[in-house]
Amino acid sequence: MAEVVIVENAEAAGALVATEIVELIDRRQDAVLGLATGSTPLPVYQALRSRLAGRDVSQVRGFALDEYVGIDPSHPESYRSVITREVVEPLGLDPKRIHVPNGAEATIQHAGEDYDAAIAAAGGVDLQILGIGTDGHIGFNEPGSSFASRTRVKTLTEQTREDNARFFDSIDDVPMHCITQGLGTILEARHLVLLAFGEGKAEAVAGAVEGPLTALLPGSAIQLHPHATVVVDEAAASKLQLADYYRYTFANKPSWQGI
Ligand code: PGA
Repeated sequence: MAEVVIVENAEAAGALVATEIVELIDRRQDAVLGLATGSTPLPVYQALRSRLAGRDVSQVRGFALDEYVGIDPSHPESYRSVITREVVEPLGLDPKRIHVPNGAEATIQHAGEDYDAAIAAAGGVDLQILGIGTDGHIGFNEPGSSFASRTRVKTLTEQTREDNARFFDSIDDVPMHCITQGLGTILEARHLVLLAFGEGKAEAVAGAVEGPLTALLPGSAIQLHPHATVVVDEAAASKLQLADYYRYTFANKPSWQGI
């Protein structure tokens, strides 16, 4: 099963995951990071600002999970823009090495295949950061997604469009379609790190970690991964049946073992 780490707050989660990423980059200067957007990963990127300052990050590579279809990359809420603003610029990464799926309609027919090929050419993702939607999606793999799915176009659920309307002037401006790494693509990353904060995520987290493997809750795909870490605050952990065991396990973890 996934290792579950229950932390005090989002800041502590950010620090924990940032430490893991810094150690990865120290081991491998051209590490391949799987980057997530949304509010959840922001504490990780925030913590990385000071941790990576002064380090050579010129070789670090990155692949975003998803992008809206039909949105101009220069739109402030395109995931290309978000990744540039929240990750590439503050961390001083080389923009040429940071990839985001191409949501342009003209090339969308082969954009998924192209993206999976680019990930494969980079040797795969070393550490994939994940959030989880209130409907259990990871990336934009909405309920019903195949566990074997590759990067492809999906239709966003009404719930996801409502959840993301806060980033736009109105829900009508939230794109209907997206291109997202598939669950099969995500499962190929060498280490999955899923973060979730707040009561609103508690049900999705419990389902993903302890529920049955089901396409109805795409996050449950992490149970198939040999190295998945779930970092949650108390509120997001509140529906986990084995919460006490996770606390006990983490408190007694050997110091030589990272997350
Ligand atoms: P959030 O989104 O981090 O903005 O809550 C998570 C997700 O939709 O995967």
